[in-house]
Amino acid sequence: MRAAVIGLGVIGKVHADVLKEQGEELVAVCDIRPDALEGYDCAHYSDYIRMLDAERIDVVHVCTPHYLHADMTVEALKRGVNVLCEKPLCIKREDIPRILAAEKQSSAMLGVCFQNRYNPSSVFAKAYLEGRRAERAEGRLNWHRDAAYYASGEWRGKWATEGGGVLMNQAIHTVDLLIWLMGEPVTARGKISAEELGDVIEVEDTACALFSGGKAPFSIYATNTAKKDMPVVIRVAAEGGELVITPSGAAVGGKVVKLDKTPGARGKSVYGSGHERLIADFYDCVRSGRKFPVDGEEGAKSVRAVLAVYASDGKDVPLRP
Ligand SMILES: NC(=O)c1ccc[n+]([C@@H]2O[C@H](COP(=O)([O-])OP(=O)(O)OC[C@H]3O[C@@H](n4cnc5c(N)ncnc54)[C@H](O)[C@@H]3O)[C@@H](O)[C@H]2O)c1
Repeated sequence: MRAAVIGLGVIGKVHADVLKEQGEELVAVCDIRPDALEGYDCAHYSDYIRMLDAERIDVVHVCTPHYLHADMTVEALKRGVNVLCEKPLCIKREDIPRILAAEKQSSAMLGVCFQNRYNPSSVFAKAYLEGRRAERAEGRLNWHRDAAYYASGEWRGKWATEGGGVLMNQAIHTVDLLIWLMGEPVTARGKISAEELGDVIEVEDTACALFSGGKAPFSIYATNTAKKDMPVVIRVAAEGGELVITPSGAAVGGKVVKLDKTPGARGKSVYGSGHERLIADFYDCVRSGRKFPVDGEEGAKSVRAVLAVYASDGKDVPLRP
């Protein structure tokens, strides 16, 4: 496949490396910082529209700051280019319908990079909960993001460009997993605050929320004020015993589950790197025409959930007003 990456920052580099490892052809890279493009032996662009119009591209990876995802995704889909967009799909409610319309009208596919769904522990949890009654779930994210992290990109820590803080950026993976496992909720009620980083960021560093009205309620507590990154924990009170998952492990009723960590379809162990699994699956879908599981609608669910928490201030807010 002929691939291109827009945004060669922290995560764009990971996408480019994975493409190389998986034998895809990186034909073009695009970044507004010329230094970010150094070392890529392919066509270089600073304007993504020019790149999309000039190059023959099968898949474009959108790895730019959050506020750019919607336009970049729509422009690529309009041109029939398959898009793998980093999370979150977008940061404004009004962008969701235009992205979904562009996806529907396009001959190309849209995928959203929620790679944690591909962790063996997540795959186990999804299968375990299939056909079992789950009463309630909770997710906890305790990570460390300090002033230096927020200074590492102009766009970080601002409502206009990051679209939120710990919930929109770090914990959106956990929100996505909770929705995937527990079903889409109808309302959200929560609070956000800047507990430690208030003089550094506009957005929240801490959030807690309860999601209700779906198959079963679930809650989340997320903070970027921990001393270090701890493994994200999801607990589900389910028929047959409490299910607990972390990115690398799972337990049911207190007993550790042996996870399937067999090598991926490409004959190489990709355990530990969800990006590798997700990117391999996306390319397989593009090649075969199989539907990619994390499409535009799936990517939009966690954005709606996070935006509802931001609008809540302690009151119930519908995810789909
Ligand atoms: N899936 C994950 O686990 C994961 C992990 C890290 C980051 N991300 C996501 O990846 C995205 C990028 O995050 P990052 O940490 O790599 O940010 P970053 O700031 O390190 O990189 C962003 C890059 O985009 C470039 N850019 C900005 N505007 C541009 C434009 N108009 N055209 C082309 N390039 C432009 C910047 O110059 C920069 O090199 C975000 O959406 C983030 O949430 C996802």
